[in-house]
Amino acid sequence: MTTVKLHDKEFVPYISAAEIDIVVSEIATKLNTKYQNCEQPPVFATVLTGAFVFGSDILRKITLDAQICFTSVSSYKGTVRSDKLECTLDIKCDVKGRDVIILDEIVDSGSTVAFLKQKYLDAGAKSVAIATLIYKPKTRIVEVDIDYFGFEMKEDKFIVGYGLDYNERGRLLKDIYSLKCSEER
Ligand code: IMP
Ligand code: MG
Repeated sequence: MTTVKLHDKEFVPYISAAEIDIVVSEIATKLNTKYQNCEQPPVFATVLTGAFVFGSDILRKITLDAQICFTSVSSYKGTVRSDKLECTLDIKCDVKGRDVIILDEIVDSGSTVAFLKQKYLDAGAKSVAIATLIYKPKTRIVEVDIDYFGFEMKEDKFIVGYGLDYNERGRLLKDIYSLKCSEER
């Protein structure tokens, strides 16, 4: 892993693909055990775009008969940032009476996963759990339980790779990189 440059900024190695693979397997094992006796197949909702890699990797390790679907949430209305989130792509399955697992690659403020959890509960989901690769307790604004996580990021770092982007660059990096200290926000 070497330093990478995306747009105007430099990023340094932070979490390797090998480390990611281990924790993704651990989360998948927990989910396989937890949901093995569900009456109906559980629903996995991957949050696009960032979680397209985490979602794919974890789902390939899921041995349950499950339904998969995709969603996308935006905090923008046109080009204006708003505090209100909107679902720009909704899941295409009925969650009524079903166990739902939200797959997101990172929980930062917590707004996205909290918004989706409430949406599925309002739609009658039997349960809604949140699984994320990384969570940043330091930047949390919305209180929401994170049921499964791979890494807890103690410091507030801006990271890229494994689906995460800096202005739409870096999503395809296999490892995760963090913004070089000298360029810290
Ligand atoms: P939330 O603030 O928890 O709602 O997270 C919203 C989204 O912001 C995440 O799903 C990511 O797509 C993005 N995000 C949060 N932190 C980072 C980061 O360090 N790098 C890249 N994207 C991030
Ligand atoms: Mg995301």
